[in-house]
Amino acid sequence: MTIHIGAKPGDIAETVLMPGDPYRAKWAAENFLDAPRCVNEVRGMLGYTGTWKGNPVTIHGSGMGMPSLSIYANELIRDYGAQTLIRIGSCGAMQDHVALRDLVLAMSASSVSTPSSTIFRELTYAPTADFSLLEAAATAARAKSLSPHVGGIYSSDTFYDERRDLDEQMIRHGILAVEMEAAELYTLAARYGRRALAILTVSDHLPTGDRLSSEDREKSFSEMVEIAFEAAFAK
Ligand code: HPA
Repeated sequence: MTIHIGAKPGDIAETVLMPGDPYRAKWAAENFLDAPRCVNEVRGMLGYTGTWKGNPVTIHGSGMGMPSLSIYANELIRDYGAQTLIRIGSCGAMQDHVALRDLVLAMSASSVSTPSSTIFRELTYAPTADFSLLEAAATAARAKSLSPHVGGIYSSDTFYDERRDLDEQMIRHGILAVEMEAAELYTLAARYGRRALAILTVSDHLPTGDRLSSEDREKSFSEMVEIAFEAAFAK
């Protein structure tokens, strides 16, 4: 047990999928894992462990924003030995050519700050995905006839941000989409020599204000889970 995770030693698999919403973790575990069992429910942050095609997998919520993800990713890595951590979640598109429902694979994640950023002092650290996961996820997506966007995203802890000029600079610099967790996940994975990737679906479109229906969100969530498994266990 750690401060925020009630799992026993050995209850967490080396491969961990991390949706933001703990109920999505439950749903994915019940629909995609063989023999899923609940390994954490401290503070309602649900985590499940089972197998996919015989491979042990944990699906654990991260909560919203980098301060929340940082707590769970730190404990999963440092206390439970997680080796491969894949965020599956939604994002807001920032470019006209990135449409609702599109898949975004985050090659890098810019941010104003992460919970880790103070250790870098005046240096601007560039959090990046693990290339083997990124490449395998792109291949898995294309095998499903999807055309993923692969590039830079922006991780923000402020959903209702009043500073529209920050969005403008991100858009101007080709950032594909905004979400709230990847930059810290990539930073922690790099620090501890682990693999990380964020697989995202566009749930809303900042330039047009369009949003996905909840039915479409569920369908795209299933695709992300499948791509995450394929990427994690690619030979
Ligand atoms: N901002 C931050 N995170 C998000 C958004 C957004 O507009 N849409 C989906 N996740």
